[in-house]
Amino acid sequence: MSILNIKTYPARVLKERAEAVKSIDGRLQQLIANMIETMYDASGVGLAAPQVGVSRRLIVVDTDYREQGSNRLLVIVNPEIVYQEGQQNAIEGCLSLPKFTIAVDRSARVCVRGIDPDGNPVEIESTGLLSRALQHEIDHLNGMLLIDRMTPLQKQNLNSSLLKLQQ
Ligand code: NI
Repeated sequence: MSILNIKTYPARVLKERAEAVKSIDGRLQQLIANMIETMYDASGVGLAAPQVGVSRRLIVVDTDYREQGSNRLLVIVNPEIVYQEGQQNAIEGCLSLPKFTIAVDRSARVCVRGIDPDGNPVEIESTGLLSRALQHEIDHLNGMLLIDRMTPLQKQNLNSSLLKLQQ
């Protein structure tokens, strides 16, 4: 296993829509193992394949992110939100946007379907932090970053604080 280099904004791969995984082969298993190690090394709650430069629909998530080998680890190939309801708002960060945090609206509850690393279908019902993490990582597969989730007011505030820094 090895720790992969995490791409940061404005790397082009982060803006692309990732392609579906067609087969779970040895190469993909290797990528999954490396992504898991990279996520724990960076103390992240989740990681999407485009963040390590691979434009494929694959995510790893662990809301017990400080503990390697925790039983909350989820690996989902070709994840898809099939149901969502409600609303929640909380501050999020992203390993691809170092030092940037922002409050984001998300659905309160989502149901995600996909395939596990053994090729079996999985369905995950989630709320709270897990729900947020799944929505955040699936955003990555669609080329969407936290900065694309900013409201006009948040953008305005960010621009004025950047201007202050330049003065
Ligand atoms: Ni992220």
